[in-house]
Formats: sequence, structure tokens, C-alpha cells
Amino acid sequence: MRLETLISAEDIQAKIQHLAEQIDASIPRSDQPIILLGILKGSVHFLSDISRALWALGRDCHLEFMQVSSWHGETTSSGVVQIKKDLDSSIEGRDVVIIEDILDTGRTLSHLRELLGTRRPNSLQICALLSKPDARIVNVECEYIGFPIPNEFVVGYGLDFDERYRNLQYIAVFHQDD
Ligand code: IMP
Ligand code: MG
Repeated sequence: MRLETLISAEDIQAKIQHLAEQIDASIPRSDQPIILLGILKGSVHFLSDISRALWALGRDCHLEFMQVSSWHGETTSSGVVQIKKDLDSSIEGRDVVIIEDILDTGRTLSHLRELLGTRRPNSLQICALLSKPDARIVNVECEYIGFPIPNEFVVGYGLDFDERYRNLQYIAVFHQDD
């Protein structure tokens, strides 16, 4: 097993600052805080850092979480996305930004966008730290993408292999056979 650094901790932090500025610019200020909706578990560090970058820009945020699981491999063609933990509060009339670690096939986010859209938010956007354009099966609109990356398995900064490596401060390509 070998970890090959793909995106350094410094580059991640610089990108987060930039993404927070874009989010701040695109959502008009109102008396209702932005809802940052983190998709567990991979988005934890990203959600945490982006929420604090928004605070530094003078934006108040509410943090909410959902957990979903998607099956790959044999069930690829069915593309089942199961909600393991739903929101516990209403998003009606609110500005919501889904915070996700990575946009891969697109199944998870396309399902979530459709589901959450029916709950009548004032606005609904998606912010993914990473995207693998070559892995896309379902087309999904994504307002903010941190880094497009090659179609390789990556770990770190929230992303796991069998629950490990989520606590790396950087993103690495995971070479299992080396
Ligand atoms: P999608 O529905 O195929 O876009 O799947 C997105 C989910 O698959 C992400 O939230 C991750 O949990 C997982 N995933 C996709 N690619 C990777 C990767 O390279 N490393 C770790 N997890 C990944
Ligand atoms: Mg995930």
C-alpha cells in the first residue's frame, strides 16, 4: 500500500477560502443563515473548514447532516441511493448548500438534488471538494467544484478506504498493490 500526495493541505485550505468567497458572493445576505448540509462521513473536515471560512467573511451558517449510501459494483446499473440519516429540520425557504467530499458517478448528488428540491428551499446549490469527470454516469449540476481529479481512488481529508485515512490533512492517491 502506498499513498501518493495529490493535493497538499495548503492547496486545500487556499481552495476553501476561494470557495467560501464564491458562496458568499452568490447567496444574498438575509436574516436567515445559510444551511450547510454535510453529507456524512466524507465531508466532515470540508464542512468544518468551509463553515469557518464563511464565518470569517461575516456569514452565519447552520450545520445540518445527512448520511446516504450508494451501492457500486453489481448494483451499478440500478444506482440505488439509500438515505441512512435524513435531515431533522425543514429547509423550506432556506438557502441550502450541499457540502460533499467528491462527485464520482454523480448518483448520490443527483438523487439528493432531486429529493431536496421537493422540500422547497429558497435556493439549493452543491459544493464538492473533488470531482472525477471521467467517472460520471449521471449528469449533475454542481455550482462549486474544488479540484477536478483523475479517475483514481483517493483518500484523506475525509475520504476513506475501509474507514481509514479520513484524518489525513491532504488528499492522496491510494495505491493498494504497491
Ligand atoms: P457517486 O454517487 O458515485 O458520485 O459517489 C460519491 C461517493 O462515493 C462519495 O461521497 C464517496 O463516499 C465515494 N467515493 C467516490 N470516489 C471515491 C474515492 O476516490 N475515494 C473515496 N471515496 C470515494
Ligand atoms: Mg461520501
